[in-house]
Order: sequence, then structure tokens, then C-alpha cells
Amino acid sequence: MKTVSICFVCLGNICRSPTAEGVMRQLVGEAKLAERILVDSAGTGDWHIGEPPDERAQQAAARRGFDLAALRGRQIAAADFERFDLLIAMDDKNVAGLRQVCPPAQRDKIRLLMEFVPESDSRWGGAREVADPYFGGAEGFEQVLDQCEAACRGLIAALRPQLLA
Ligand code: 4NP
Repeated sequence: MKTVSICFVCLGNICRSPTAEGVMRQLVGEAKLAERILVDSAGTGDWHIGEPPDERAQQAAARRGFDLAALRGRQIAAADFERFDLLIAMDDKNVAGLRQVCPPAQRDKIRLLMEFVPESDSRWGGAREVADPYFGGAEGFEQVLDQCEAACRGLIAALRPQLLA
């Protein structure tokens, strides 16, 4: 059985990447692909290792039915490039951080989450990045959720043919 393993990556692993992990896990379950698509998340920074997701991220996610409570922050490591098929970053700074720990042969595994939003969805005008909501207001967390939902649906659609091939 073909599987694909994905690690979502942001800076702190307490706002954006746990949100992406929680959304993806739920959508993968609904698509009956939980045994095929394996999901995790990590941060490039080390400030929040062992911490649950930011309370604002948890509450915004819970209002949409996504449960982030069991997730815990961790830092990306070189070994993750062996374990995962795709390391999906939230912004260009995360890509730069990933490149610092990535074995050269594995660089093609690094992608940006917003690449997976369908072109027909013009809500963010082709934005490359999921903006960091940490120092902003509640609307930032809602936008992160909107973007994660759109991109994760696109990601599942992109993976489906290769899983079923
Ligand atoms: P995240 O947000 O990268 O989406 O988890 C942040 C969390 C913490 C910090 C920055 C961004 N921080 O500076 O501690």
C-alpha cells in the first residue's frame, strides 16, 4: 500500500503548523485516507518545545471542529528529512530555516503550503506565505485556518492520484 508522510513546518510549532496538522488530520480522516497520509508538524525554532499549541490557535480551531489539544511543540531535525516525503513550510523564513538542517539531496522535499491552494481560489491573491499570527489579533488566526483548510484540500487532491496509482 502506498503511503505519503508529511511534516508541516513553521517557526514556533505552536500556531500555524499545528493548525495545518490538525486540519489535515481531520480532512484526511474524512477522505478515508488516514492509513495512507501520515501527518506531523515541527518548528524551526526551539522556544516552544513540549508546549501545547497557542491558546488562541486552539480556540479558533475548536470553533471549526479541529482539535489541537494533544499536539506538542517540537523542533525540526535532520532525521526528519529521512522520515518525511514532504516538509511543507508556512513562509519563506521557514524554508530558509529548513534548508539549514536539510541534507542537500533532500531539498526537493521542501515546499510552501500556499502552493497547494487551487488557482481558482483568489481569496489571497496568489500569496506565497501563511502570515505569522503570533503578534497580531484574532483575525490572523482565522486567516491561518482559512488558508490551511483550502491548502490541505488541495494537497489531498494532489496526493490522491499518486496514492491510488
Ligand atoms: P508559529 O508562530 O511559527 O506559527 O508557531 C510563532 C510562535 C512563536 C513565536 C513566533 C511565531 N515566537 O517568537 O515565540
